Amino acid sequence: MSIADIRRVYARARLDEAHVSPDPIAEFDRWFNQAREAEVPEPNAMALATAAPAGVPSVRMVLLKGYDERGFVFFTDYRSQKGIELEANPQAALAFYWGELERQVRIAGPVEKTSAEESAAYFRTRPLGSRLGAWVSHQSRVIPSRVELESGLREIKERFPTADVPLPPHWGGYRLRPEEVEFWQGREDRLHDRIRYVRDGERWRVERLSP
Ligand SMILES: Cc1cc2nc3c(=O)[nH]c(=O)nc-3n(C[C@H](O)[C@H](O)[C@H](O)COP(=O)(O)O)c2cc1C
Repeated sequence: MSIADIRRVYARARLDEAHVSPDPIAEFDRWFNQAREAEVPEPNAMALATAAPAGVPSVRMVLLKGYDERGFVFFTDYRSQKGIELEANPQAALAFYWGELERQVRIAGPVEKTSAEESAAYFRTRPLGSRLGAWVSHQSRVIPSRVELESGLREIKERFPTADVPLPPHWGGYRLRPEEVEFWQGREDRLHDRIRYVRDGERWRVERLSP
């Protein structure tokens, strides 16, 4: 079978502007819970796009760790490529794909670092190995080999011999404050439903986009 012949008929559900919540966070909450109920693997995995100041984009997967009216939170190494790009150009976009539900959600807006307290509170919930790993890795740096990571891990275990591993200064969260949120539901004949929320002062404007 040729790659060009891989295609799927979307016909599971519909999305109607008359029945969506006026608030995109409430709508996201409904969809996210449905993705969990449908046992989508890693429903919190999302593509995160950033761009260098000259406009060159980059994209990678990260895990959503929280969302509420303030925005969508993920955690990373602030010295990574994404961290460097967000420092210079604090705008980002997210995309979720929940294939089992024939759904995509896109979110875009400015990004801010979470407070050190919020980052530390999340860091404490991570398994010990992940907390040690955050000290060992300088994310996105070129390294000569894996050996460097393994010797780094031995050194860090000597430095922090108990489970009391503090938040590294270079590690923490970002919160993306949505300016736009788009919900995509696959439909028959590629005439998909697309409902976009655009922030309009204190309110949200809801509009339908052509597929
Ligand atoms: C499913 C999945 C989830 C991931 N979650 C995270 C995450 O939450 N934070 C993170 O820094 N990297 C995460 N990664 C690794 C990133 O995709 C990426 O390799 C890393 O952050 C370096 O990206 P950068 O060089 O563009 O900064 C994840 C990768 C996958 C495949």
